[in-house]
Amino acid sequence: MVQINQHYLKLKAGYLFPEIGRRVTAFAQANPSAKIIRLGIGDVTEPLTPSIVAAMHAAVDEMAKRDSFKGYGPEQGYAFLREAVAQHDFQSRGVDVSADEIFISDGSKCDTGNILDIFGSDNRIAISDPVYPVYVDTNVMAGHTGPADESGRFGGLVYLVGNEANGFVPDLPTERVDMIYLCYPNNPTGTVASRETLARWVEYARQNKSLILFDAAYEAFISDPSIPHSIFEIPGAKDVAIEFRSFSKSIGFTGVRCGLTVVPKQLMGTAPGGESVSIHQLWNRRQSTKFNGASYVVQKGAAAAYTDQGKAEMRGLVDFYMTNARLLREGLGRVGIRVFGGVNAPYVWIKTPNNLGSWEFFDLLLSKANVVGTPGSGFGAAGEGYFRLSAFNSRANVEEALERIQKVL
Ligand code: MLT
Repeated sequence: MVQINQHYLKLKAGYLFPEIGRRVTAFAQANPSAKIIRLGIGDVTEPLTPSIVAAMHAAVDEMAKRDSFKGYGPEQGYAFLREAVAQHDFQSRGVDVSADEIFISDGSKCDTGNILDIFGSDNRIAISDPVYPVYVDTNVMAGHTGPADESGRFGGLVYLVGNEANGFVPDLPTERVDMIYLCYPNNPTGTVASRETLARWVEYARQNKSLILFDAAYEAFISDPSIPHSIFEIPGAKDVAIEFRSFSKSIGFTGVRCGLTVVPKQLMGTAPGGESVSIHQLWNRRQSTKFNGASYVVQKGAAAAYTDQGKAEMRGLVDFYMTNARLLREGLGRVGIRVFGGVNAPYVWIKTPNNLGSWEFFDLLLSKANVVGTPGSGFGAAGEGYFRLSAFNSRANVEEALERIQKVL
């Protein structure tokens, strides 16, 4: 019989969001008249905006004509999109990232997992707790960890605890690590890292020759001008960091699929023999072999987000979801819930009332308010006793969910 990758057997349960989906489906089948409102997975609800729709339609028309039809595109992404990203997301903010350091992909979740292909298996890896589960599970799958303990923590990973005392922004590790996952604005806690915090991480990485994997998927939701949108705003970061970005939440592409990864050309890793190797070249090699690029139509849509009209529409979407976040934050605060995040990020992180466990609170909200959220413990042991609500839904649903939650508390 065929041998399987035994590391998959270490994974605790199903991936968090499908697991929630399974429980919600079971509840819905048992309670067919319940009008369930989903504030669990951060999935957008608002349709694509007019400039993106027009650009995608035009791209389909190009594909429909022999003269403008396109087959395989560049694995790294079309120049028109890489250049737009470099100019508008980085250079316009004074950040030195060039188009050829940008790799367009089908999403940042895929990239944060796939990046492990180019790194060795003996790296010491630090992750925050609570954390976006993809960072943990992909390292488990790659065989970088031991089995999980009772609390769900995997042997071999260095967990950096975020809690109320540190504002859910974990301190630097007390031991040396090779790779560090950082996600700011943070999923799941909705907190942000100040320039000083990121500068401390960059300094740590430079001193320890570590690599920062910086997930900036939610940078578009930052409203505070003092908060960096990119790790590359910190001097020296290009020697020590890779950055992941996403079009999913900012322009409603969760179903369309497009993201990008910035791998600086100067970023180096070490081969077993001690020689320095370009990480940019390795990632280019990986992508050229295992990926055929995001589709032309999708990339044309993403590029339209950088036109004046596209930018204004994106701002409208972001403002819409951030108003939802504010309503949740203020409405829950009014009934005595301790609330975090939701100011520069579309997630509201709350302390469960009456010290309920995260899954207990999940069951309470689902059964009594017919509202779905995400148990904090699904993001790690340190998330126990907390709960995440996503601001991605219609205004009417957010308002109704809030009313219902307030009633059951
Ligand atoms: C979340 O809810 O945490 C996100 O939607 C997950 C993702 O972006 O993959």
